[in-house]
Amino acid sequence: MRSSILSLAESKIREVANAAMGRPYVLAFWFGESDEVTPEFICQAAIDSLQQGETFYAHNLGLPELRQAIANKMSHRHGHGGNFIDMNRIAVTPGGVNALMMAVQAIVDPGDRVVAVTPVWPNLTAQALIMGAQLTTVALKPINGAWQLDLQQLIDAITPATRLLIVNAPNNPTGWTLTPDEQKIILAHCRTTDTWILDDEVYESLYYEPTFNHCAPSFLDVAQTQDPLVVVHSFSKSYLMTGWRLGWMVMPADMTDSIGKLIEFNTSCASVFTQRAGIMALQRESEVTPRVVKHLQTCRDILVGALSPLPQVQVASPRGGMYAFSRLHGAGDDPLVIAKRLVQEAGLGLAPGNVFAPDAQGWLRWCFATKDVSRLGQGVGRLQQWLQKGFCRNKDSQFFRNAIGSVWHRKNTLLVVGKILQNSLLRQNPLNPTRIVQFCRINHGRRSKIRRDHRVYPKFHLKCL
Ligand SMILES: Cc1ncc(COP(=O)(O)O)c(C=O)c1O
Repeated sequence: MRSSILSLAESKIREVANAAMGRPYVLAFWFGESDEVTPEFICQAAIDSLQQGETFYAHNLGLPELRQAIANKMSHRHGHGGNFIDMNRIAVTPGGVNALMMAVQAIVDPGDRVVAVTPVWPNLTAQALIMGAQLTTVALKPINGAWQLDLQQLIDAITPATRLLIVNAPNNPTGWTLTPDEQKIILAHCRTTDTWILDDEVYESLYYEPTFNHCAPSFLDVAQTQDPLVVVHSFSKSYLMTGWRLGWMVMPADMTDSIGKLIEFNTSCASVFTQRAGIMALQRESEVTPRVVKHLQTCRDILVGALSPLPQVQVASPRGGMYAFSRLHGAGDDPLVIAKRLVQEAGLGLAPGNVFAPDAQGWLRWCFATKDVSRLGQGVGRLQQWLQKGFCRNKDSQFFRNAIGSVWHRKNTLLVVGKILQNSLLRQNPLNPTRIVQFCRINHGRRSKIRRDHRVYPKFHLKCL
């Protein structure tokens, strides 16, 4: 096995999710997808395609109808200022991640220097490492509540030896975006150093600031057709289609044939029925994306509004994307340890920040894309309780794991921990006729029984409090 593959880090988000196995009460905000299913009319387009027998291989670069529909959309948004986007600059791929991988395969040789702006979705840096690149990172900084790029630092990092610059804006996990002026400066510099730009713009439509074309600033707005620029997009986020695996890339026209060859050797094509669903999604975009964006903005405001007053939490309101990247002060540094403890002790599932940048110590990512917005308030409530308990450090971790945010249920006994849980139990739940309820108290990290209650209670729901 190649050493670059052996040295790839395993997914830490998955590690946290594994810690939640057997804990159905955990409120999970770790994965980057909405919990809302794809609109019915998009699903129906795929069903119709299958029923009509479209079960065969397709053109490497995608169905011409879909490529044309994408070119129309992209031209409408970005085709002003001399950057004409026609269908011979478009390749359809099974997912945005595959488009990113092929762009890196097409551009990067082993040993090439690659610069990436971090924190960033880890697949982007892993792909360069898989190709044997030498990776340098330039870190965004949270300044006055917003993530910012030191533009000069980035420009200094891109030299004539730099083959590729990788940017993701709007950014996962911070929501950071580039301004058009920054894009112009970066592009002008990359022209002089002969450096390609790979911009992952899959969150382009999920942007909450007003702009003339109703999306985040794009490198396509400032580039010319022949610039060394590849922009990657996806149906996943703005059309609620994560499981469909459909994305696309926009590139200079003279690169398209080479990408067609790479598609042949990677996946051969995206499946036809998903492409038909993609065509439908674009045709009826106005029925999906604006609603998704409006809802996500509400989710963002609820989450950030609830997190901001907590004194131990540092959080900036993201301008785009569907994540809040927040820092917990005083809970230790290793985000993986914090994330696992939150799962076990608070019933809260967040992604550890060091997945996105090794130096993001103490940072955690919330994905706020949830249909039921009350989950966000519940999640922050659990975090707050956990913080108030002084992070529940206790040798008897089993006791806490099962008690915080729910009740511990064993041998017909319900253990209810702490004053808050005790109160909310009595307030929120009907009484139970069959079970013995035992009240306990946390006392300097030790559990001590304060009273045993043999009263008879009617129906008790063993649900999260
Ligand atoms: C920044 C970024 N790029 C690309 C993707 C992948 O998109 P797709 O589902 O189209 O592969 C993700 C998914 O979370 C992402 O966060």
